[in-house]
Amino acid sequence: GAARPRLTFLGTGYLGATYAICYAELGYEVLGFDVDEAKIAGLSAGVVPFHEPGLDELLRRNIAAGRLRFSTDYKEAADFGDVHFICVGTPQRADGMGADLTYVETSVVGLAQHLSRKALIVGKSTVPVGTAEWIEQLVGKHVAPELGVEVAWSPEFLQEGFAVEDVLRPNRIVVGVKSDWSNGLLYAAHKGVFDLAATEDREVPLVITDFATAELVKVAANAFLATKISFINAMAEVCEVAGGDVTQLARAIGYDPRIGNRFLQAGVGFGGGCLPKDIRAFQARAQELGAGEALRFLHEVDLINLRRRTRVLTLAADLLGRRSGPAGPDLSGAKIAVLGATFKPNSDDIRDAPSLAVAGLLQKAGADVRVYDPEGMDNAKKASPDLTYEPSLNDAVTGADLVCVLTEWADFRNADPVALGELVAGKKVIDGRNCLDATLWSQAGWVYRGMGRP
Ligand code: UDX
Repeated sequence: GAARPRLTFLGTGYLGATYAICYAELGYEVLGFDVDEAKIAGLSAGVVPFHEPGLDELLRRNIAAGRLRFSTDYKEAADFGDVHFICVGTPQRADGMGADLTYVETSVVGLAQHLSRKALIVGKSTVPVGTAEWIEQLVGKHVAPELGVEVAWSPEFLQEGFAVEDVLRPNRIVVGVKSDWSNGLLYAAHKGVFDLAATEDREVPLVITDFATAELVKVAANAFLATKISFINAMAEVCEVAGGDVTQLARAIGYDPRIGNRFLQAGVGFGGGCLPKDIRAFQARAQELGAGEALRFLHEVDLINLRRRTRVLTLAADLLGRRSGPAGPDLSGAKIAVLGATFKPNSDDIRDAPSLAVAGLLQKAGADVRVYDPEGMDNAKKASPDLTYEPSLNDAVTGADLVCVLTEWADFRNADPVALGELVAGKKVIDGRNCLDATLWSQAGWVYRGMGRP
């Protein structure tokens, strides 16, 4: 019934698994579905297949409490759930621009074919605007109209490393609905979040809107965040030629509450499974809809972001006193330590990681590159098998002519420049995230170069 609806989450990747586990924690009866048998077997055994702080414990606790289970059977999911959340991946299409909706289609059809009572299908994956309407038509083709199955949309905004907090204590809930029935049921499906907030004397704003707006909210938020990062990286480029310091500039403009100081960290740019892919898919969709011009600036956002990677290459050449030929700088023979492989710290995710891209550029320029990351080594070795990896920070920097810090792990920020200085061949460091204490490193005799800093 609508009082405490039973929830299924289809697709137990990063998004679906996190939601399934956290909503069980909120007290819902939850079923996580995936076509991947190994994933379901692992989750059923209490193993989270990715790195996310706090999630393992919640998984085991809620399986033990009998509120959470997993299945590869569409029929079981269809019979179980009152509300079915679609959480499958929407990867970048082979053409590099639009989103691939194959998994959305197969999961909706797989579920719809087994539905035998009224239920609500709620999209959560990041999709091109218009997908909810398309799913509604798809459902119409596979479900008898008398069942009255409905569709709604509710985007998520979780950040890796903070996913449990972001799901249990979101800063807003957005729903795109078409009827009072779906609105009421979806409210019941989110009530655990509102109740938790009430016990903590907080309020979670609820935005109730149409399908298109709900879908757009997600990509608009990510486009804004990407733009904010590229804005400050563009300022870094200007600082680099004008002799300014972008970290001080960011601090100074960030005091204006209209601007705010978050997401103003200049460096090697944004990566990950969302921002780069989402801004490209958003542009492609706007183009299809005839509003390509409106999002042309996102192309620029992308280019600024990618230029940060080549900036490290030219800085490296500069620091090592190498000349640039027509094919770019020649770094042959230089030994370079790359610290960081993940797209951000406290994650093992290496998707679209600027660090690995830069490592590739340095290696291509002839350098002998040694990569180390505290959590991302296994994933990095799979994704970039041509790079050379070292088992520790010390191993990576030993004998290096140049050290590049490209992900701001605490291990790197807190590393002792005096001790590291004894291991390297040349005390030169590029701080690709402006995360090191420049004074401390300089005092230890290092030639320090930040991003957008004199
Ligand atoms: C992002 C959004 O924050 C989240 O709301 C959305 O749901 C998914 O995409 P995530 O990909 O986990 O989350 O990473 P985020 O913490 O946003 O960082 C994205 C990238 O931007 C990282 O590579 C990070 O290093 C970079 N970044 C972030 C900067 O370069 N500068 C900053 O100031 C902030």
